[in-house]
Amino acid sequence: MIALDLSGRRALVTGGSGGLGQAMAEMLAQAGAQVAVHYRTGRPAAEAVVQTITGRGGKAQSFAADLADPAAVETMMKDASAALGGLDILVNNAGLDGQRAPVGEDDPKHWQQVLAVDLMGPYYCARAILPHMVKSGRGVIINITSVHEFIPWEGYSAYASAKAGLSMFTKTLAQETADKGIRVVAVAPGAIQTPINETVWDNPNSLKDLDEKISMGRLGTPAEIASVVAFLASDLASYITGTTIAVDGGMLIYPEFRHGG
Ligand code: BGC
Repeated sequence: MIALDLSGRRALVTGGSGGLGQAMAEMLAQAGAQVAVHYRTGRPAAEAVVQTITGRGGKAQSFAADLADPAAVETMMKDASAALGGLDILVNNAGLDGQRAPVGEDDPKHWQQVLAVDLMGPYYCARAILPHMVKSGRGVIINITSVHEFIPWEGYSAYASAKAGLSMFTKTLAQETADKGIRVVAVAPGAIQTPINETVWDNPNSLKDLDEKISMGRLGTPAEIASVVAFLASDLASYITGTTIAVDGGMLIYPEFRHGG
């Protein structure tokens, strides 16, 4: 039997207190990893994830930081590494879509905020963890992008730009670290049912519109992303680096081209 075994590994998941990050934290723990659950302000939610993991016999702790603040990220990495005895897996999951507004009608401050969390945050986290990984000669960094690293999205230019940037950051960092025992991979989720897109799936009309953009005709579940993250973090994926794995129910294969053309 092939086992997805992360025992002895220590993982930090940003935005681990809800949505995709919660599913990732829980699944990494189920595979045997110790998990640092990062949150920004939602301590009770992060603690609930920790409780779920420890209740199942796993090991987890929560850590707070504003990912747009490099000093706060440094401190979090030091604290998490000290508490877990090192860090081997970083999942840069935290992110926000931002407010929908076409360029010109938007506020540059919001653009900056999306870039700060969705692109600078992963950069700061990777930068802070790298020395530990280089020293131990092993590590996996998983950056959660989106189908919008490929698909433009009206009204969300900051988000799409940040995700495309995170994709290229993934490839460049992978190139820089491949000979140091470190793998850097991106996961591009499609439409996954989480609080981030609740206003869309909560409404029958917008849900129908979204389903039609997905070849499989349904939204994904957080567990369907978390299982890929756990696989990529494991030695089963030992030859994968510098690429994006799309987990999107076929959103990127243009379902609208099933007809006509
Ligand atoms: C966004 C979701 C959106 C999905 C598909 C994701 O990256 O965070 O809000 O539903 O892309 O457009």
